[in-house]
Amino acid sequence: MQLCVALDLPTKQENLDLINKIKEYPIWLKVGLRSYIRDGEEFLKDIKKINPDFKIFLDLKLYDIPNTMADAAESIMGLGVDMFNVHASAGKRAMKEVMDRLGLYENRPIVLAVTALTSFSEDEFSEVYEDSISQKADQFAKDAHESGLDGVVCSAYESKSIKNITDKAFMTLTPGIRPFGEDAGDQQRVADVAYAKSAGVDFIVVGRPIYKSQNPSEVVKKILEQI
Ligand code: C5P
Repeated sequence: MQLCVALDLPTKQENLDLINKIKEYPIWLKVGLRSYIRDGEEFLKDIKKINPDFKIFLDLKLYDIPNTMADAAESIMGLGVDMFNVHASAGKRAMKEVMDRLGLYENRPIVLAVTALTSFSEDEFSEVYEDSISQKADQFAKDAHESGLDGVVCSAYESKSIKNITDKAFMTLTPGIRPFGEDAGDQQRVADVAYAKSAGVDFIVVGRPIYKSQNPSEVVKKILEQI
């Protein structure tokens, strides 16, 4: 299991300060909508300047018509990131088109599909998808697997079932991790590190418990020890 730290701070400088505090660790860094819209490709380069071994997950959750998603995926190829994601609810045709387009390249990044956002409660989720989270997450994971993606974003609670119905090697990345029982914030389906590990999760994403802590380096160290 690998640790991915979410860079969701209000300014580029605060993100860079955080990265500098944890630069000696073999971790992934997640650049999401807030940071990428504000700081763009330059920020990705700044990260690699601090430590070229950092792996970057570009969390833009693409959702559009198939051709537009494949075009966007091709642009992402040019950024040199190590992983990015799309929404599984964009459909199999869109996911397949993304993978076909990336197939033209030798070194493509890992591609994951978002199943159900971890901030959804059951009620909120069924209002949108008219199904339970676990059933729909399984279905989305099957779709992503059949479309040739490498894995999915899901909650730790869905990881086991998803691997059972797809493939053990099909990756799961789980946000909503509260490593040592910290405040859940807007997340609904939170789990701790031990649970994620027992569920066979490949990547845990941790944001607020690290960047809101007085000592982010210490929290990262403790999580890596548990992993
Ligand atoms: O601060 P916290 O640890 O809750 O951060 C979780 C991160 O994972 C956020 O950047 C959020 O956008 C992202 N994420 C999520 N649920 C998903 C996909 C991504 O919480 N399904």
